Amino acid sequence: MNELKWDCAQLVGVAHLDEQHRLHRKLVMDLLRTLETQPSDAKAEAAFIDIFENAVIHFRAEEDYLEAQGYPDIVPHRFEHELLLDWFRDQMVERDGPHARPLIQLVKELGTIFQQHHATVDQDYATWLQAREKATSSP
Ligand SMILES: [Fe+2]
Ligand SMILES: [Fe+2]
Repeated sequence: MNELKWDCAQLVGVAHLDEQHRLHRKLVMDLLRTLETQPSDAKAEAAFIDIFENAVIHFRAEEDYLEAQGYPDIVPHRFEHELLLDWFRDQMVERDGPHARPLIQLVKELGTIFQQHHATVDQDYATWLQAREKATSSP
């Protein structure tokens, strides 16, 4: 995988979720920049785990919000979150073994996965929320 281009987090129109998405992007891009200049940075492994923990918190917040809104596609969305967390757990197991890949490679992969999630399934609920907003605000 080559360069990760991730200029800004796509908005979903819900303030606290947009803020969490912005933070995800920042954590990933900051870690990537650190690893590009210092590939064996001592704090990088901890930063990777920090991103995982932030993802857990965000997914829970997003699912709670969507559930409260009655979002019809909550089940497949939750499943996508589970797949993403499984990816993280697999990487963490691999990091303790003999076939650990360079962390920078994982961070690029993670950035691509997050970005895709934001641009697809997260946008799906944003579109649904907007449509519902329109339907309830029109006379
Ligand atoms: Fe999501
Ligand atoms: Fe999200």
